[in-house]
Amino acid sequence: MPIQHHQIDTEALWPALLELRESMHANPSYAEKIKSWHLLRDSGSRWILREGEQSTAWVLTNKLISLNLQQDLPANFFDTLGLAARYLELLHQQYNYKQSNEFQITASCAQSLDGFIATNTGDSQWIGNKQNLVHAHKLRALHDGILVGSGTLHNDAPKLTVRHVEGKNPSRFIATRNPNQHQEALGKLNMQGTYVLHSQKLATPDLPEAICFHHIKKTDEDGFLKPQDIVKVIRDLGLHSLLIEGGGKTLAHFLKANLIQSADVQIAPMLLGDGLKPFATPPVARISQSKVFPARTFTLNDQVLLSMNFTGDN
Ligand SMILES: NC(=O)c1ccc[n+]([C@@H]2O[C@H](COP(=O)([O-])OP(=O)(O)OC[C@H]3O[C@@H](n4cnc5c(N)ncnc54)[C@H](OP(=O)(O)O)[C@@H]3O)[C@@H](O)[C@H]2O)c1
Repeated sequence: MPIQHHQIDTEALWPALLELRESMHANPSYAEKIKSWHLLRDSGSRWILREGEQSTAWVLTNKLISLNLQQDLPANFFDTLGLAARYLELLHQQYNYKQSNEFQITASCAQSLDGFIATNTGDSQWIGNKQNLVHAHKLRALHDGILVGSGTLHNDAPKLTVRHVEGKNPSRFIATRNPNQHQEALGKLNMQGTYVLHSQKLATPDLPEAICFHHIKKTDEDGFLKPQDIVKVIRDLGLHSLLIEGGGKTLAHFLKANLIQSADVQIAPMLLGDGLKPFATPPVARISQSKVFPARTFTLNDQVLLSMNFTGDN
């Protein structure tokens, strides 16, 4: 059936997308059998999820979205569904990665027009606007885990929850070489489902009791944990996807290790003059030597969201 063009209220789709994610994850062997789903609009304009036929092609109308999880998302989905298509893309990737036993890593941050995620004093609240905050929390709800570095823990004291949207909180991960330095900041995250991954031994008594500390002895030559080892610990906990929110140093480690598959970067029309870069990569002399990624753009009020594919297979 041909794809028809209709404007769809993407906000109204969110509960059905969450239900789709739940269904995919709740019973993997069942999800493996069900290759397609229908999102149907009922008389009260609510979107509801129904199991589909395996042969169903992609269909999009203002009353029905048929999701064939084994075929590529058609480009028209992005024109019509806006950000909901980005969420579907992530779910679609999660489904296929699970079948091939791959681990999904997504990055997310907000930067200024001159390319900084924080001022040089570490202030970053808020570069993104309210819509970006909602988008960031939806990304959190669509991933099993969320990771930040200790710099972000200190500067932002993030809660790493989904409090601005409906959904489940991801497991929280903090990376640091030395957890003994972060006692006070960690005390604010003293919730079940929080993990600190560190390379130096725990020496401080009275660390927050709800937090799990995971010592990884192996490091790179600079004493940092290898991103692959961080991923292994997270996978061993049974998680399949991770959102990395920053900051720049943490993102750079994962980017260098080629582990990030996609990144959503919000660009705000503001100038900071100097500050922290989102992806600290070595400089190139010529434009032709730069890394260029396939990207989609979304508008979030007065800001632009760049959604980039880092795998090169867009
Ligand atoms: N605009 C945005 O969207 C956004 C998002 C997030 C953060 N931020 C801003 O970014 C700033 C923080 O960024 P940042 O680059 O300075 O710091 P960061 O990346 O948050 O944290 C860096 C620290 O994390 C630990 N770490 C990172 N990777 C590690 C690894 N592989 N192994 C072991 N430890 C690792 C190390 O901690 P130890 O030094 O303890 O060993 C490292 O010094 C803050 O100002 C925050 O406000 C902005």
